Amino acid sequence: MIVASVPDFREAARRRLPRFLFEYIDGGSYAEATLRRNVEDLAGLALRQRVLRDVSQLDLSTELFGQKLALPLALAPIGLAGLNARRGECQAVRAAEKAGVPFTLSTVGACPLGEVAGAASKPFWFQLYMIRDRAFMKDLLAQAVEAGCSALVFTVDMPVPGSRYRDYHTGLAGASGLKGAAWRAAQALARPGWAWDVGLWGRPHTLGNVAPVLQGRTGIEDFFAWMRNNFDPSINWRDLDFIRSEWKGPLIIKGILDPEDAREAAELGADGIVVSNHGGRQLDGVLSSARALPPIAEAVGDRLTVLADGGIRSGLDVVRMLALGAKGVLLGRAWAWALAAGGEAGITRMLALIEAEMRVAMALTGTTRIAEIDSNVLAQMSGKDRI
Ligand SMILES: Cc1cc2nc3c(=O)[nH]c(=O)nc-3n(C[C@H](O)[C@H](O)[C@H](O)COP(=O)(O)O)c2cc1C
Repeated sequence: MIVASVPDFREAARRRLPRFLFEYIDGGSYAEATLRRNVEDLAGLALRQRVLRDVSQLDLSTELFGQKLALPLALAPIGLAGLNARRGECQAVRAAEKAGVPFTLSTVGACPLGEVAGAASKPFWFQLYMIRDRAFMKDLLAQAVEAGCSALVFTVDMPVPGSRYRDYHTGLAGASGLKGAAWRAAQALARPGWAWDVGLWGRPHTLGNVAPVLQGRTGIEDFFAWMRNNFDPSINWRDLDFIRSEWKGPLIIKGILDPEDAREAAELGADGIVVSNHGGRQLDGVLSSARALPPIAEAVGDRLTVLADGGIRSGLDVVRMLALGAKGVLLGRAWAWALAAGGEAGITRMLALIEAEMRVAMALTGTTRIAEIDSNVLAQMSGKDRI
């Protein structure tokens, strides 16, 4: 199929992946209201067209946490995204490097930190969850330091997991033992291209950083059971001291949706935050990122670096998020779909599309540099269209 946009990559991923994997990536929690709002609130923001402003020289580069980036974006941490293509996170880190943007490896990626570090030739970011076993966390942080990771993304919006109904409908959740395995195997066999690439070719997949603590258990249900039992619901602001004692580099707190929490993060010396509702996968019914972002940027934008994610499906959306107050954005599903659709080359192409779309959005809003993108590029809207 012809792939000309991020939604096209989604369709290509739907055709390529076994159903349980596609729905796992695509879905949100409960009724998926926040997932829909993330996309709709952003796309619904009207841009302000400006003309006759000499837009022949556009500069899309920026600097985040002392790093020069070709584009104001990073690839978001996506658990198990590496299952979308062979040794997927290794392909993703290479594509991100080529495009001049950071890749973020999830704590629960399919490839372990050491393997991704081996595939990378530049520093990447590492994302950490709060795990009951502090020795496990310390070990991961030590590995991240050794790998030369250039930022730590500490995700705080998963003290308990939200329920995703789609996973029950595909057998990824709730179906254990032989029945679950047979159900998923049938779905995998319906996608022989994927099964060959990921399951049969070369080294079969492990469960990344979590594999050593699973003690030989290799099933996907073992992995999710580990997540349910080991994510720490006691996580609180004092835990930042523990993180700081093990990590001296830039610290970005991901999963902030409220200005009060953003102020607390600034107070405690975080270098950045990601305004995020986990892509609509945690508490359904919370604000979309686009709605949550402006008051947060207003509250702390001069004290730390505000990033945002959720619902970004085009370069136009990137420009909209920047206009709402973000200094940079994270792309989530967009890269997971692109990886499924075309591996490293798929992500390279997706990032090129985003860049091309950003160029058009900047040219036609009369902005030539990233720092120029502010609320002036948004048309003032009234009534129900106002966000
Ligand atoms: C399949 C999937 C797995 C995810 N896993 C993680 C994770 O391991 N750690 C994390 O901090 N966020 C995780 N997220 C959230 C993303 O980092 C990001 O916040 C979200 O995908 C942004 O929304 P978007 O997908 O609409 O771009 C995950 C999201 C998806 C879709």
